[in-house]
Amino acid sequence: MITFEQYAAPEWAAGLSSAPERVMRLAMRPTPLEKWKLPAADIWIKRDDLTGCALSGNKVRKLEFLLAEALSTGCDTVITCGGIQSNHCRATAAAAVAAGMTPHLFLSTDCPSADPGLEGNLLLDRLVGAEIHLITPEEYLRRDDVMRELAETLRSAGHRPYIIPEGGSNALGAWGYLDAWEEMRLQIEGAHLEITDAVVACGSGGTAAGLALGAALSESPVRIHAVSVNRVAQYFYTAIGGILKDLGSSQKAEDVMDVIDGYVGEGYARSTDDELRLIAETASSTGIILDPVYTGKAFRGMLTELEKKSSRFRGGKLLFIHTGGMLGLYEKIPQFSEVLAGRRSV
Ligand SMILES: Cc1ncc(COP(=O)(O)O)c(C=O)c1O
Repeated sequence: MITFEQYAAPEWAAGLSSAPERVMRLAMRPTPLEKWKLPAADIWIKRDDLTGCALSGNKVRKLEFLLAEALSTGCDTVITCGGIQSNHCRATAAAAVAAGMTPHLFLSTDCPSADPGLEGNLLLDRLVGAEIHLITPEEYLRRDDVMRELAETLRSAGHRPYIIPEGGSNALGAWGYLDAWEEMRLQIEGAHLEITDAVVACGSGGTAAGLALGAALSESPVRIHAVSVNRVAQYFYTAIGGILKDLGSSQKAEDVMDVIDGYVGEGYARSTDDELRLIAETASSTGIILDPVYTGKAFRGMLTELEKKSSRFRGGKLLFIHTGGMLGLYEKIPQFSEVLAGRRSV
């Protein structure tokens, strides 16, 4: 049974717009923060890929706040959007159904008239019975209007829709990562780790916004580095700045964090063979499975910056925040077959 209650915010968050309600609880918390022995270096890893199963990854923490608002305002339908293999849409669909609401997903694809099949996240979207609306990348550019239009239609049919923006990235969703920051801060301090830098994948900015603001307000020595998987750095400084403002903070994004661009590769959700090879090598040398769309690219960015001895990292211990996304691997099976061809023994 899903219930919601007032969230007890950490003391350092007292100056922010009032703490919201939260669904108790969708995410398995706290997730482990553990040592990660990489061939190149010893670093630390925060296992937010382990927040759950169907509800795995970073989006679940945001959904605890977003769905509490949907439930407390009497909504019966949730509308959201993302790429065809969106982890956010899959997690939203599963959580909405568990909370007794009908999920509608706008999924962007080059060919909306073709059956997208049942690969990866789509299988779970279908299993939980989400209403799927396929749209072109051009339509996706006006996603907020598209979602509002459906909400109007549903409202006139007597429903009460709740719209969640791309990636769950607004001020309310960012509370999920303000709270995750507090969880990490306690783990870092409790184990006396001298972490100076934390790296996270950035797709719509809400995760990085919560972490960066949490680190700044709690006066932590840890600097958050958000590796873009789709857009240029300036886009995120603006988007994250907007979220910080809506949270009631006067901090500028540039002052509290670093956005790293240059690791998008061939584009959002497109993988080079080298990116997939790095995922395979990391899996076979450490047992940690990264995803091709977010964490694989962020990890590559982190390793390259480390190799370059980039001055962005301040020389202490490094923390990689694994935000999940494993189901996205399945869409890459044909490409992996080639990348792994030399490795297979049968
Ligand atoms: C696995 C994974 N990691 C990272 C992100 C990026 O998080 P954000 O959209 O908050 O920037 C996403 C977003 O969809 C994701 O699915």
